[in-house]
Amino acid sequence: MPDLTIREALIIDGTGGPAFTGDVEVTDGRISAVGTAGNASHELDGRGLVLSPGFVDTHTHDDGALLAYPGMEFKLAQGCTSLVIGNCGFSAIPNVAGAGGRGAAGGLLGQATDSFTDLAGYSDAVRQRGPAVNYVSLIGHNTMRAAAMGDERRAPTDAELARMKRWVTEAMGQGACGLSTGLIYQPGRYSATEEVVALAEAVAPFGGLYATHMRNEADRLIEAVDEAIRVGREADIGVHISHHKASGRRNWGMVGASLAHIDEANAAGADVTLDVYPYTAGSGRMIEYFNLDRISIELAEVIRLASCPAFPAYEGRMLVDIAEEEGVDLDELVRRILTAETGDRTICIHFIIDEADIETNLRHPLMMVGSDGIPDLKGKPHPRLYGTMPRVLGEYVRERKVLDLEEAVRRMTSLSCDRFGLVDRGRIVEGAWADLVLFDRASVRDTATYDDPQQEPEGIACVIVNGRVALEGGIHTDARAGRMLHYRRTSE
Ligand code: ZN
Ligand code: CU
Repeated sequence: MPDLTIREALIIDGTGGPAFTGDVEVTDGRISAVGTAGNASHELDGRGLVLSPGFVDTHTHDDGALLAYPGMEFKLAQGCTSLVIGNCGFSAIPNVAGAGGRGAAGGLLGQATDSFTDLAGYSDAVRQRGPAVNYVSLIGHNTMRAAAMGDERRAPTDAELARMKRWVTEAMGQGACGLSTGLIYQPGRYSATEEVVALAEAVAPFGGLYATHMRNEADRLIEAVDEAIRVGREADIGVHISHHKASGRRNWGMVGASLAHIDEANAAGADVTLDVYPYTAGSGRMIEYFNLDRISIELAEVIRLASCPAFPAYEGRMLVDIAEEEGVDLDELVRRILTAETGDRTICIHFIIDEADIETNLRHPLMMVGSDGIPDLKGKPHPRLYGTMPRVLGEYVRERKVLDLEEAVRRMTSLSCDRFGLVDRGRIVEGAWADLVLFDRASVRDTATYDDPQQEPEGIACVIVNGRVALEGGIHTDARAGRMLHYRRTSE
């Protein structure tokens, strides 16, 4: 007897093909029938609801969250069943004793007290906590570089480079999906392209990916795209461009040219895909965006604070408002925040993206959806942490009709699973793992706002992870059925 059946849902199977009505049956974690199903002990009424594969958040910083908040409510409630961790060059691994590896992330990944060193150890630590969702990991360049050579502003020695390459090889052997960089951040920004190519070459024997937060997302966006393409070409691996955007008002509109450039490269043999988050603000560690000797007022003017351990009262407020209230200049305020004892842990939200560029991004057939959410739940995180997937379905599909629902689901499921090597996931077909989401296309919407960001979305009726009901009627069931996924390997 099947474990679970979903009756008469509108099935959007993840392939991009048209929706059809039918039942789906789940046995031993996998989909055992599509169309008509037998009787099961647990039956869900799918009438009036869409059933699609579970969503993949292709861009997360949830390495630490999987340990600290294994229930992962903020992702599960969006219909996410799998996450890609280790982005922007920051990963939980390698975790090298006494090295600056985790420190390089400056609180981005949270504090882990576990003694793991490699991906196998990390996955043991996560498994012990019972994660609610699946995940696959990248290995981060910034983390490795900090562990191998601290904050040195030079090329690595042969020995340092060899050590980083060994970490890449080890992680890939343990199931990582590729290498990530964050080339605007410290210490990645001190690396030449050749260093990145050398590390990407260690990914190549495994057929993995190069995922990048590029060196520039503003005036020199196209040059940065060229660098990413070069890494892929020289190392002979696929390239995934993270959170594609053109930052700063004078660059708005440039994503069109950037996408055309990528299309041309792909037509000529490159293999580039991308992701985007559906918001006009970015978010990250504030200290990374400012040079204290030359504080950019233009940037300070569009910043709001997400978390600020040094001045908790500032959380959720625009810098301009704080400055006015306290009668200080903006640059003085920025300096005060960043030079405070825990100033480097300040997470900011910066309004730098054009709304029209988000639509242009979402229209591109190789564009996936990645939240880039920063799971610091103590302050007022960017609402993308809670709202990304429903916002695409509600705002961009239903309200603005930027793309149709079948296509949006394809980009959030099969395209992402194929790209990040999640085998037998991302499609509703017999034999696939039963990662599923049941939602109301008429009401699904994000409710997280900048003022009140920790809000679970509406319209997500049920989420199933590896055949187990993880969320039903707004209640998290504590099934904790997630697991680590190994790149291009079938899970048992
Ligand atoms: Zn990034
Ligand atoms: Cu990121």
